[in-house]
Amino acid sequence: MGYKGKVVLAYSGGLDTSVAILWLKEQGYDVVTMTADVGQAVDLAATKEKALKTGACNAYVMDLREEFVENFVWPSLKANAMYQGTYPLNSALSRPLISKYLAWVAEVEGAVAVAHGCTGKGQDQVRIEVCTNALNPDLACIAPVRDWQFTREAEIDFAAEHGIEVSLTKQSPYSIDENMWGRSIECGVLEDPWNEPPSDAFKLTVDPWKAPDEMETIEITFEKGIPVALNGKTMGGIELILALNKVAGAHGVGRIDMIEDRLVGFKSREVYECPAAITLLQAHKALETLTLSKDLLTTKKELETKYAELAYVGYWFSPLKEALDVFFDHTQKCVSGIVRVRLFKGQAVVVGMKSASSIYKHNLATYSEGDAFDHKAAVGFIKIWGLPIKTWRQAHPVENVPSSPNLKVVGEE
Ligand code: ARG
Repeated sequence: MGYKGKVVLAYSGGLDTSVAILWLKEQGYDVVTMTADVGQAVDLAATKEKALKTGACNAYVMDLREEFVENFVWPSLKANAMYQGTYPLNSALSRPLISKYLAWVAEVEGAVAVAHGCTGKGQDQVRIEVCTNALNPDLACIAPVRDWQFTREAEIDFAAEHGIEVSLTKQSPYSIDENMWGRSIECGVLEDPWNEPPSDAFKLTVDPWKAPDEMETIEITFEKGIPVALNGKTMGGIELILALNKVAGAHGVGRIDMIEDRLVGFKSREVYECPAAITLLQAHKALETLTLSKDLLTTKKELETKYAELAYVGYWFSPLKEALDVFFDHTQKCVSGIVRVRLFKGQAVVVGMKSASSIYKHNLATYSEGDAFDHKAAVGFIKIWGLPIKTWRQAHPVENVPSSPNLKVVGEE
C-alpha cells in the first residue's frame, strides 16, 4: 500500500489504540500518538514508551488537566450540566479538548488525518470527529476499531503476533473511561439492567453501605460560580477536585446507575462514579437558589438542559454553546459564598449556606419577631391574582361533586 502521510492517533495505551498503531501503519500511514492527561490515573511515561515501542514515529503526552478544569469542567459546572438530569458528562467534556489537541498536533506534524479508538456505537466517535472538523475541516478522521473486522479474540491474537503487550489480567471486564471529573463504566455484566453493578466496577467510591458510620461535613467556598476553597483552604481547581474525589468517594458519594439515551438511537446502561462532580453540582445548585432570582433560575434551568445536550452530542464548538456560556457567565457574577455539605453513606446533602449576595431576606421570611412582610397587602394581592381564574370559572364552573360515591362524612350515619 502506498504512503498516505501522517496520522495523529488519540492514544490511551490500551489494547485497541495499540493495535490501531499497527493497523494504521499497515494502511500506509506514519503514526504520531497524542495522549491527553485529563487526570486519569495511568502511568503516562509508560504510555509514551509503549506508543514508540509499538511503532509510533512520535508520541506526544500532554498535561491538559488545567485546561480541562478551566475551560470545560468549570463552564459545565456553571451550567449545572447533567445529561438527562443525571450524567455529569465527565467523558463527554474531555472529547472536545482531546480533539483540540489532535488538531493542534496534526498542524505541528503536518498530518493529513486524525484517528481514534472509538467504536461505531457511541457518542465519542461523533464528538471527536465533529469537534476536530470544527477546528480543522481539512483533517480526515479514521476510526480503526469502527472500520476493522477484528473480533476481540482476533485483535488479541494480532496484538500478540506483533509483540504488543496484552496483559489479560489487566484487561478489565468493562469499558472504562476516566478523568478528574469522573469515571464511566460500561459493558460486561452491566449490559443487563437487572444486574446490580458488582463492586469491582468501582474505583473512586466505596460501597455506600460500607462507608464510615460517622458523617463528615465539609465547606466549599465558591467565587462567581467556581469553587475556590475546601474547608477554608484556598486551592486551585485540580487540587480541589482531586481532594473532593477522595473525601466524597470515601463516603460512597457520586455513584450513578442509569439507562441513557444514546445519540445513535438506542438505550444503554451506564454506570458512573463522580464524587467531586456530584458534590460540587449539589453545592453549586444550592448556592444559586440563595443568590439568583426565581425567573432567572427557571430560565437557566431550561438552558442547562440544552447545554448538557450540546455537550453530549458533540456540539461543544457550536455557536449556541458559545452564546450560552456568555449567558451562564453573566448569571454567575453573584454566585459566591460558602456551602456546607454533609457526606454520609452515599449522599452529599447541603446542610447550610451563606453568601454576601444572598437575596434570602430573613425579615421577610420569618414567622417570629422582626417580621417586615406586609400581611395586609396579601388581601388585595390574592384578589387580583385570582381574578382571571374566578372570571373563567364563573363562565365555566368546575363540577364540584364528591369523586367517590362511597364517600362518608365522619360522624354522620
Ligand atoms: N456514555 C457516556 C458518554 O457517552 C460514557 C462514554 C464512555 N466512553 C467509553 N469509551 N467507555 O459520554
